[in-house]
This record gives sequence, structure tokens and C-alpha cells, in this order.
Amino acid sequence: MSELSTPQTGSPLLDRCPDSLPAHYYFDPAHHDLELKRIWRRNWIYAGRVNDLPAMTVRRLAIAGENLILVKDGDGTIACFHNTCRHRGAELCSAAETRLAAKLIVCPYHAWAYDLKGNLRSTPYVSVTGDFRKEDHGLFKVNVRLWNGLIFICLADPPPDFERVPDLGAKALDHWPMTELMTGRTMVKELACNWKIFWENYNECLHCPGIHPELCEVVPIYGKGYMAANEAPDWTPASPERGTRLKPGARSWTVSGEPCGPDFPGLSEEEKARGQTFVTLYPTTYLVAHVDYVRVVSLRPLGPERTELRAEWLFAKATLEAPGFDLQAATALVERVVAEDGAASEMNQRGLKSSAFTAGRLMPQEYDVFNFQQWVRRQLEG
Ligand code: FES
Ligand SMILES: [Fe+2]
Repeated sequence: MSELSTPQTGSPLLDRCPDSLPAHYYFDPAHHDLELKRIWRRNWIYAGRVNDLPAMTVRRLAIAGENLILVKDGDGTIACFHNTCRHRGAELCSAAETRLAAKLIVCPYHAWAYDLKGNLRSTPYVSVTGDFRKEDHGLFKVNVRLWNGLIFICLADPPPDFERVPDLGAKALDHWPMTELMTGRTMVKELACNWKIFWENYNECLHCPGIHPELCEVVPIYGKGYMAANEAPDWTPASPERGTRLKPGARSWTVSGEPCGPDFPGLSEEEKARGQTFVTLYPTTYLVAHVDYVRVVSLRPLGPERTELRAEWLFAKATLEAPGFDLQAATALVERVVAEDGAASEMNQRGLKSSAFTAGRLMPQEYDVFNFQQWVRRQLEG
């Protein structure tokens, strides 16, 4: 596409080259604090999978500068609270994960005890006067939403409407048995980059030919720098192929292109033929569902220039337990791709700190980077 050409109707390409976000948005501590406040404390944040949190367990969570606990009771109900006692504010749980012997969370300081719904139950050793009511001193609650076997929490009250968060709609993964899947592998990396850099990299494939040679073998269109066929300069509405297909013979994102287990029953022919279904939930998570496995990739900012990246591979129990199942073969391609994206994100971060660089320019193909940046701008204004 030449600089002056105008995209076809129906093409996602931008008709101009807008400025990228200001460079200081990626490293300035004061701006980072603003993003924590306006983005990370206002939106639904991924907090792990339901199946990976055992019953009668308390798990610590650190999100957007808050010290929280996630609690699963004996019936499987999940709640989230600030990790703070209502007496004088002591931290309730200091271990990363605690199994509960009784249905109580007991403060280690003066032993105030709360039930697993957060209600204050007992205040031992103290005499209480008439101006103190236990029912006014339950744990500070945080909103929880379960979706497709994933736990999301939101620090805002009231929280935003969750149904609007998944970009393909809350029903996009209804044909996958999401709540039954087992986590076969979890990879956690700390990246030396701002969290937005990883999302920007996720939102374009101009880097694919140079950064992901193996992935481009499996998904040939990526080798042209496109995410979908309608990005091609010669695409017209008369050539309506918009999707992304795997190479002939390939059916999943594995090194060989072979699925690592049976197809999930219930997928439509279109879902199988597509090869991958991406669902994006800003600011924390994207999922990629294939015929044989699903992966969850999530981000958590640790500082202006530090981000935790977590990738989880989910399989049917029968696939994981099948004789000869090769976890390494199932995950190796994506592990490499995620490592390549992490390294590219760190490279981007190092370069944009030049005092000479104040903002980049987005090319027409970077329409989804632009859409993400517009989302960030709207969040910051809001
Ligand atoms: S601070 Fe928790 S019981 Fe005193
Ligand atoms: Fe990539």
C-alpha cells in the first residue's frame, strides 16, 4: 500500500498514519500511577482459573497496588477481599496460599475471626461497648465475576458491565468446554517493559515475518505481515476472505500443526476451519481457543517498566491423561512465540526511552494498535 492510497471499503486499514501514544506513557512513574487508578482499578482483572484454586483455600493477590485475598469455600464459592483486618488493619494472610482447616479467616494479630463471606464472627479477649456492631465490620469486599472457568475481580464499585469486556462477546467461547479444562502448563515471565507495549505488539503482525519464523510456517498469512486476509492491499469486498487460516493440513498451533488430542466436541465447522479463535479482554487477558487446547495469556503491571506475563495451556482431562500425550510438543511453538514477543517488547521499551523520541507514528496496518491506544486514551479521560 502506498502512503497516499485509500483503503477499500470494508478494509480495516487506517486511512492515515496517526501519532502513537506519548513516549512518557511507557515509563513515567506518575503516568503509570494514573493508569493504575484509571485503568487497572476500574476494569475487570484476571485472577486465575477456578479449577486451579482448591476449595478451602486463601490466595494472596497483588493488583494495582492493592493487597487482596481470593477465597474459595468448601462449596466452591469464590470471594475476594482486601487483605486487611477491620480491627487495626493488620494483614490477614502473609503466605502466598493457605489451606483453611476451619471456615474462618483469623487475623494473626488479635485473632478477630471472619467467615468466608467476610462477616466478622468473633472478637476474642475484648469487651465490646454498645457503639460497636460486628455487622458493620466485615472484610472489605472486592467484586468477583466468573466467566468460562476464569476468575475476574474488579476494585471499582459498581464495576463495569462484564458482558461488554470480551471483544467477541461474552458467548464467544460457548462451544469450548472451558469450565472443565485442566491447566497442563503455566509459564510466568517478568518482562522489562510497560504493559501497553505487550498489547501493542499483540495487535499487529508487521513484526511476524521477522520475529516469528516458525509461527509464519503454521499460519502463512502472518508471513505477509497480515493478521487477516482483508488487510492485503488488493483485498476487495468481492474477495471476502477475512479470516486467518492455518497452512494446508495443519489444524492447531503446534510445531507439526497436528492437534495434540481429539477435537473438542461441539465446535462448529467454521470454528474448526478457522484454526484459532482469539478473544481479547483489556487490560489483562487474551485467550486463544484451538480445536484441541486453549491458552490464556495475561498481564499484570509490576511497575512502569516491569510486567508479569503469564501463559496457561488448558486441555481436556482425557487429552492430558491419554497415553503418549506430549506436553512439550503441544506447547513448544507457543512458548517460542511468547518468548519472541516478550523479547520484542523489551527491545521496544529500551528504544523508546531516547530523549529524542516523543511519540511514534502508526502505519495503516496498525489499526488494532490504534484501536488499543484509543481505548487507553478513553480510559484515561474517563
Ligand atoms: S488487627 Fe486484626 S485482630 Fe487486631
Ligand atoms: Fe508476535
